[in-house]
This record gives sequence, C-alpha cells and structure tokens, in this order.
Amino acid sequence: MSNSVFEKIDAMLHQIQGETIHSAEELESFRIKYLGSKNTIKPLFGEIRNVPNESKKEFGQRLNDLKKTAEETFAKAKGELAKVEADSKANNIDLTAPYARSNKGSRHPVSLVMNRIIDIFEKIGFTVEEEREIEDDWHNFTAMNTPEDHPARDMQDTFYLKDSVTRLLRTHTSSVQARVMTNTQPPIRIIAPGRVYRNETISARSHCQFHQVEGLYVDKNVSFADMKQTLLYFAREMYGPDTKIRLRPSYFPFTEPSAEMDVYWGLETDVDYRITKGTGWLEILGCGMVDPQVLDNCGIDSKEYTGFAFGMGIERQAMLQYKIEDIRLLFENDVRFLSQFNAAY
Ligand code: DAH
Repeated sequence: MSNSVFEKIDAMLHQIQGETIHSAEELESFRIKYLGSKNTIKPLFGEIRNVPNESKKEFGQRLNDLKKTAEETFAKAKGELAKVEADSKANNIDLTAPYARSNKGSRHPVSLVMNRIIDIFEKIGFTVEEEREIEDDWHNFTAMNTPEDHPARDMQDTFYLKDSVTRLLRTHTSSVQARVMTNTQPPIRIIAPGRVYRNETISARSHCQFHQVEGLYVDKNVSFADMKQTLLYFAREMYGPDTKIRLRPSYFPFTEPSAEMDVYWGLETDVDYRITKGTGWLEILGCGMVDPQVLDNCGIDSKEYTGFAFGMGIERQAMLQYKIEDIRLLFENDVRFLSQFNAAY
C-alpha cells in the first residue's frame, strides 16, 4: 500500500518536471493544477492515513519536496516568461515609425551670423576674446582716442550707469581692443564678438542694443595690405568666392588711416536698389591701421609694432542674409519668428 503512495508522489514529480510552460496561459494552468486551491497535490496529503507509522516521516518530507518543486518550477517559469516578454518588447521597435518630435530649439539668427564670422576668422588664426558689457570710460573712449568733447560720449548717445560718469554700457566692441592690449604684448590676433548699447530711438532700422564683431591684429610689420587681404578673405568666405570689395577712406578716432569696406551686392532687383541706395555696394565694416597713439595708450610700443583693426555690425548682415525687414524682430524673441531658423551653426 505504502509503495503505491510513494509511487504516486514520484509520478506527480515526473509530471511536474515534464510540464512545458511557454506562455502566460500555460503558466496559469500550471498554477491552478499544482498550486491553486483545488490543486492535485493536496489529495496526496490525505493519503498519510494509509502510510505505516515508520514511513510517515519520509512520506511527509517527500510530499513537502513535491510541493516545493511545484512552487520553484512556477517561480522559475514566471521569471523566464517576464524576461522573454521584455526582450521582445525591446526588439520589436518599429524603425520606420515617425519619431515623437521633441521641442527642438533653434539658434538665433544673430548667433548664426556671429558664429559664421567667428569660424571664418578662427580658420586664419584669430582667437575669440569675450569681455564685459559694462565698461569704464577709459577703455571705451579715452584709450581709443575719443576726445573729451566727442559727441559719442554724450548722454544723448551713451547709457551711463546710474550716478556714474565713468561707468557705462560699452558703445562698441572696440573697448575690447584696449582690454586686450593693456593685458598682452604682441603678437595679438583676436576677434571680439559681443553686444553693444547706444542711446538710440528704437525703430525698424535701429535699436538701442545690437551686436558687433571686432578684430585686432598687432605685430611687427603689419601693413594696410595685410588688412585688405584679410578682409577680402573674410568677404569671400562670407558672401561667396567671387565677392568684390572696395575700401572707402573714412574717419575713426582710433585708426589712421581709416576706411569703410563695402561688398558688391548687385543691382538686379528693386530691393537691391533700395538697400544699396542705387550704388550696388553695401557697407559692411569699419577698419584701419591702429592709431599709434592707441598703441601707446595701452602700453604697446608704437615704434616697434603696427596693427590693423576692424569692427562690424551683426544685425544688418543677419537682416540681409535672412531678408528680415525690421530689426526689432531680432530682440522680441517671438518663437514663431525664431523657430524659422535651423542651421548647422
Ligand atoms: N567701433 C566702430 C563703430 O562702432 C567700428 C570700427 C571702426 C571698429 C574701425 C574698428 C575700426 O576696429 O578699426 O562704429
């Protein structure tokens, strides 16, 4: 009698070990069959009555082992199924599905143009200098040879800090020339991009804040020809390989001689007529040989060194490039405007 009870346990053990569980349904039937409230192991416990006393202990142990095997088989199969499911989820990515568009930002057109200009000059060895927007009178004006009575220094033109006659918002990036030259001896080859401020009435054409890129090259034997070649290189990188430039004599307090550079834009459309005032030429920047007095003001020996400098506005170039008619759009930060600019820079 007792033998047949043990045989039942063995048979059940074999049955459990032979079960295949490959799906959630099979797992559930296994659970109901061996672990549920009406499971098939339970009745075996009742058979203890038919087991002789000396074998009762072994019988109990074997039954417990059987139950344990059922529980372990269930847990193992459950774990494996969960893993298979996770793997298949990971492998089931539809590579052709359209991706959920995230809110991708875009660069500001002023940054786009500025970064391009920086790139062009970095290629020929200029390094970027960034300096303060709150300047003192000396770096912005005095060092740059702007006389005490020059109209640019007037409150009408310059924002001074409250209760100060010496601290101001820089009116041009030329102040960075003075910063760099008082700190470093030549060779100096830098560009200085940044924001500048002028006390202007805001309109479609002018704003009280805008951006410039300044350039400065000081070394032994730097010539006007070096400047012209550098600026020609810049114009051709920026506006195309066939771009023509011209230098018109001009005046700036900090350069001597001074010039303004135009690029030939063409006269094909009405717009070309309007923006070039009928000449076909567009003024892009101011430039010149650094006035020896400026070098001396900043502690650089003007008998030993010469240099050239240039400064250009960014907004106008951005407006030309992207056909923006109103400068105010560049400072309002309306996303409908900004999201139109997607470019590599
Ligand atoms: N600072 C001048 C301006 O704001 C631009 C300029 C002209 C810069 C000639 C220069 C230069 O470095 O050489 O209008």
